[in-house]
Amino acid sequence: MRQARVYGVAGLAALVMGAVAFAQSTAVPLPEEAPVQAAPLEDNAVAELAETRWGDPQRGATLAGTCAACHGLDGNSVVREIYPSIAGQNEPYMARQLALFKSGERPSPIMQPFAQMLSAQDMRDVGAYYSMQSAGAGIADDGVVTAGDYEGMKFYEVGQQIYRGGDTARQIPACMACHGPTGAGMPGPSYPHVAGQPAWYTARRLQEFRDGTTGERDTRMFQIMHTIAQPLSDEEIQALASYLEGLHPRPDAATRAQMAQLQGAAPQAATPPETPGTMGVDGRTLDPAEAGNPPAGAPGSPEASGIDPQQSAEPVQQQ
Ligand code: HEC
Ligand code: HEC
Repeated sequence: MRQARVYGVAGLAALVMGAVAFAQSTAVPLPEEAPVQAAPLEDNAVAELAETRWGDPQRGATLAGTCAACHGLDGNSVVREIYPSIAGQNEPYMARQLALFKSGERPSPIMQPFAQMLSAQDMRDVGAYYSMQSAGAGIADDGVVTAGDYEGMKFYEVGQQIYRGGDTARQIPACMACHGPTGAGMPGPSYPHVAGQPAWYTARRLQEFRDGTTGERDTRMFQIMHTIAQPLSDEEIQALASYLEGLHPRPDAATRAQMAQLQGAAPQAATPPETPGTMGVDGRTLDPAEAGNPPAGAPGSPEASGIDPQQSAEPVQQQ
């Protein structure tokens, strides 16, 4: 099975591990969610966020040590089979999810104790810190679908088609409209960053949204995705998750080398750039500080660096 080479700036070692662990990951069965318990109503963790100010990333960095064992100090999951990544996640979304964990409205026996240690302002500070970290990515599955409506398409292309174009017949909007062409999300309306996430996690979240099981007292945000996810089949959810696992704003060193080879370029094309992993598709070397998940339109953002989002998760062979 060929693989779409996909990767952010988290280091070549991480890519190699990811490639080994995830080359065939789309058939992983999903754990069933336990029924959601009613939230303890005396807990005001979510309401308390209204009393806070925008997070301070420097203060957040001092809190991130607690999270590093699972999510990595840079927010890229330490064990992708078990922990989601939080690198590049936007501050408001992250703070709210932490408050939901703390109150028990979003049940997670693993996350609740860590969220309970945080004040409302801590949640925003740690969110601000992780929002500035560079998100890596995994590998999208480009195995060919052998039966059904999508026969003949590569598996990730099924997800890509929905992500970019939606399906008007079934009133599914393009995911890209809210989560952005590179999956970076939007901090303003708190649309989360979704690119590079391990596929099992995205698939599980989409199933939760589709099933409509939530303990959230204010369901306005949840409801947006509940409506959107409802018409999705299991296959489409898996394909979207695979596509998003591979979605990334720029190619890694191995992909660039392959691209150079395909273009018949001399071997020096494979020489690592001065700052490995931070080269834009257009060949412009990005400042490592801005290579992560800068605000939309800011210098170094996918939009501003002229990267064609159409190519984001394409296998190298098609470029
Ligand atoms: C012991 C491992 C562990 C530690 C430590 C940990 N987490 Fe988590 N975290 C998880 C797991 C597992 C999940 C997935 C929860 C679920 O939905 O079932 C998660 C989920 C999350 C999410 C939701 C991600 C999303 O996209 O919805 C956020 C945000 C988060 N963690 C932030 C933090 C922060 C901030 C810290 C440190 C204060 C932290 N975590 C510490 C294991 C951990
Ligand atoms: C109208 C805007 C909008 C559109 C279109 C949209 N989303 Fe979302 N998405 C959201 C919002 C808002 C949330 C946060 C929901 C919450 O807070 O519970 C979200 C959350 C998610 C999450 C959870 C992320 C995490 O870290 O936990 C995933 C995955 C996701 N969306 C995928 C998709 C996919 C796939 C599509 C297309 C089929 C899509 N979204 C279309 C607004 C949108």
